[in-house]
Amino acid sequence: MCGASLPAASADVLAQNRRVSTPFMIEKTQRDAGRAWDKFYKANEDRFFKNRHWTDREFEELRQNDHDLLTHDTPVLLEVGCGVGNTVFPLLEKNAQLRVHCCDFSPRAVDMVTKHPAHDAERVNAFVYDLVKDTSLSAHLAARPAWPAVSTLSLIFVLSAIPPHEQVRVVRALLDHIPTGASVVFRDYARGDLAQLRFHTRRDAPWAEPSLLSDSHHWYRRGDHTMAYFFTRDEVERLFAEAGGVAGSVEEVVRTDTNRKTGAIMERRFIQARFRRV
Ligand SMILES: C[S@@+](CC[C@H](N)C(=O)[O-])C[C@H]1O[C@@H](n2cnc3c(N)ncnc32)[C@H](O)[C@@H]1O
Repeated sequence: MCGASLPAASADVLAQNRRVSTPFMIEKTQRDAGRAWDKFYKANEDRFFKNRHWTDREFEELRQNDHDLLTHDTPVLLEVGCGVGNTVFPLLEKNAQLRVHCCDFSPRAVDMVTKHPAHDAERVNAFVYDLVKDTSLSAHLAARPAWPAVSTLSLIFVLSAIPPHEQVRVVRALLDHIPTGASVVFRDYARGDLAQLRFHTRRDAPWAEPSLLSDSHHWYRRGDHTMAYFFTRDEVERLFAEAGGVAGSVEEVVRTDTNRKTGAIMERRFIQARFRRV
């Protein structure tokens, strides 16, 4: 199902429990984001996220037999916020020509990419990089001088981990590193997703620091101190328009799951977008 509006019941849930965290905690959460994700990977290793075998089904840009990754003799993907490679490795397996630059600010995650049984340094350039703080992306891409320019940039559940006031700058800096004609694929959490509703329904201890990080943005701190932002379709459209230099389409995708035990209907909501560098 695409583009469905938020049910009234979900809007009611989002109106509940809107206490905002203290300025000190908001600042600390941003400052310590890298450490929080690194701890996440220390605790979960590669067990938390499943391999994303769906990406080439959802994005023709990632299929071997469609234009982008085929018209280039050597297609090159830049996957940012790659984690332990759940997006990267299924694509490498399906497309023997593919080369991948991938980065994450968690050294543990990048280490797990390089130790993955399917890792091959001839095809994978994995490096530690903070999308908010670092500015040396060109140098990292130049570490594989024989590879052609990036043909596809992927942002899969990473922009939601970036503070809202940094998102346009981060996207603009990435777009500066891909040539005209390259494609951009994006998937991330949408407003009203089950994960967001849970922030408003769970009962924190009365003394606990609230997880909401803004009274004007749908931005939260999880229990493990990583951040999560929930986008609308219009926001993603505006964000990429403001970053500039791309044309494409943005849609909201809604998947309904039923809890087999309780019969409760759960809505997963995502924003999915495809652009081309112009
Ligand atoms: C939900 S995971 C998604 C991983 C991967 N894209 C995938 O498809 O499975 C989000 C990733 O973004 C990374 N991340 C968050 N903020 C980042 C930043 N400022 N710079 C680089 N990576 C970041 C986290 O470390 C985490 O691995």
